[in-house]
Amino acid sequence: MKRIAVLTSGGDAPGMNAAVRAVVRSAIYSGLEVFGITRGFHGLITQDFIKMSLGSVADIIHRGGTILRTSRSLEFLQEKGRSRARESLSYFGIQDLIVIGGNGTIYGGYELSKLGINVISIPASIDNDIAYVDISIGFDTAVNTVLEAINRIRDTATAHERIFIIEVMGRDSGHIALAAGLSGGAETILIPELNIEVERIVERLKQGLKRGKLHSIIVVAEGCGGAYPLAQKIRGMTGMETKVTVLGHTQRGGTPTAVDRMLASHMGKRAVDLLLQGEKNKMIAFKDMKLVEIELQDVIKGKKDIDLEICEIARILSI
Ligand code: F6P
Repeated sequence: MKRIAVLTSGGDAPGMNAAVRAVVRSAIYSGLEVFGITRGFHGLITQDFIKMSLGSVADIIHRGGTILRTSRSLEFLQEKGRSRARESLSYFGIQDLIVIGGNGTIYGGYELSKLGINVISIPASIDNDIAYVDISIGFDTAVNTVLEAINRIRDTATAHERIFIIEVMGRDSGHIALAAGLSGGAETILIPELNIEVERIVERLKQGLKRGKLHSIIVVAEGCGGAYPLAQKIRGMTGMETKVTVLGHTQRGGTPTAVDRMLASHMGKRAVDLLLQGEKNKMIAFKDMKLVEIELQDVIKGKKDIDLEICEIARILSI
């Protein structure tokens, strides 16, 4: 029986479990033997392989995190680590590998493909910063988590007539901030891709107060240099009470939304189908409302753009 393996790597994203379930169930359905590798690329090096059964992925579709665990393997970044990973796969008689994760995972998969492994990548990252991908698994859940927090903060912000700065994740990108800021009705959205002077932020705050606003919500992406220094500047310039909430890892956990479960289910099944068809070294992408495949070598060279028009829409709608 032909064997394949699956791993999750890098920052976990809600929906990874649903993707693992889809891979395992569709592989077994098609007569394949499936191994789950624990702790991502690290588990490839340490040979932590688990034979997966239909029941091993029961009751996980609704859970955040990943039952396969994950890590950011420093050893795998070295050539020696990667060749050990390659040897482990050979030892288990595995030629086909499905990797689930963000940019680092896709890069890791690409490196393994250069060593002769047939790799299919499933994009899963709350950051939504993967080239060619409209929505990666986990993004929708993370944005909804931020939205829930904005709604709650809005209540107390109005009650006290305060300014609130909410810092969200996204590493060097502003996709979470932009989506949550627009849908949460934030007055100002700050992202690393667009520099907005603090004077302009303060001017908007003052305009809002003048027209009777009871509060102000600023959503700032973590890549902008931190919410606390910004709060201090705004406090200094306005004399107004300015509170900070850093949402941090709350954005990574939680039960995945229907969108993330659907993406994960479709992509997991497609990944197995691609391997069965002899396809290799591709990433599956949800693009323009359909699933397409992109060569790994193109993905790693690509860059995901941000739609700056969304900032303008959010600005106009929050006057
Ligand atoms: O890539 C996902 C992400 O949550 C980023 O938004 C964040 O910058 C990073 O991972 C945090 O990583 P860690 O959990 O390893 O600190």
